[in-house]
Amino acid sequence: MAVTSRVLITQPIPEPGPGLLRNFGADVEVSPHDRPLTNVELRDAVRGRDAVLCLLTDRIDAKVLDAAQGCRLFANLAVGFNNIDLAEASRRGILVTNTPGILTEATADLTWALILGIARRVVEGDAEMCNGRYTGWGPSYMLGGDVTGATLGLIGPGRIAVAVARRAVGFRMRLIYHGRRPSPELDALGATLQTLDEVLRESDFVSVHVPLSAETTHLIDEQALARMKPTAYLINTSRGPVVDESALVDALRSGRIAGAGLDVYENEPRMAEGLANCVNTLLLPHLGSATIATRAAMSRMAAENVIAFLQGQRPPNLVNAEVWNSAGNDAPDTGAD
Ligand code: DGY
Repeated sequence: MAVTSRVLITQPIPEPGPGLLRNFGADVEVSPHDRPLTNVELRDAVRGRDAVLCLLTDRIDAKVLDAAQGCRLFANLAVGFNNIDLAEASRRGILVTNTPGILTEATADLTWALILGIARRVVEGDAEMCNGRYTGWGPSYMLGGDVTGATLGLIGPGRIAVAVARRAVGFRMRLIYHGRRPSPELDALGATLQTLDEVLRESDFVSVHVPLSAETTHLIDEQALARMKPTAYLINTSRGPVVDESALVDALRSGRIAGAGLDVYENEPRMAEGLANCVNTLLLPHLGSATIATRAAMSRMAAENVIAFLQGQRPPNLVNAEVWNSAGNDAPDTGAD
């Protein structure tokens, strides 16, 4: 008799992922809590599963991997997978997948909401109206920064950066970027590859689009902030720890930079002390991929990775393809991410 595969989903997620897994015949257990599981709960919940569909808020460390005896796949519902100790997973022969590509446009849209919102003081303006502080148009009232024709500096030349740059063309912006190698897509949009230093010094908007790694942790630190123009804005929709948040608070308080639009934080859901009281910020609660269609697409992609794995096929969005290949599977690595 065929054994039913046991799949854990660590928090309730939008359809169609759970339905697809059930239709496939998997025994799916969804955590009943509408919050991330604690480390202890997570270690308990992964026991005896064949695959786990997890979220960016789940810390999948060596202890969780040890508890997940028999589990051979962690399918992350996110493009970033810094929440998973990839080296430990690979060492144990555990596959890891992510959801690349499908949240690019939604995240680029939100990056633009931050650019426009912080420069043109959109949320502050709304508060003026709702709090009854608006007493009439004034020539010096609530002046902001210019977007059209300004210089946009992109740090990290990945898909989201390219999507942000495509939108910037409509604003006739000068585009510069920093990355390890040239990006043909950004070059085609008229962007110029520069050093990190040049991007920081020349940009009116510095927008961060790097994955989180040891190398990118605190990439935007006190020194980097000191290189930015005092009229420039920092935008971050990537991962919080890329920016030294305490240094940012100092830079905002002292007027070292004009402002910051953030969607991610160093220690989510908390913020560095003082950040909430800075007036020159626009702070969002990690909404980059938070559209109905995007989350449904992410749910489908994560479930399809699990289903492929349960069928003995190569999951389409593997991030540690070497584990698959070293297990004697010869399907080529398509380099999906
Ligand atoms: C991701 O997928 O990495 C995003 O941050 C989710 O919103």
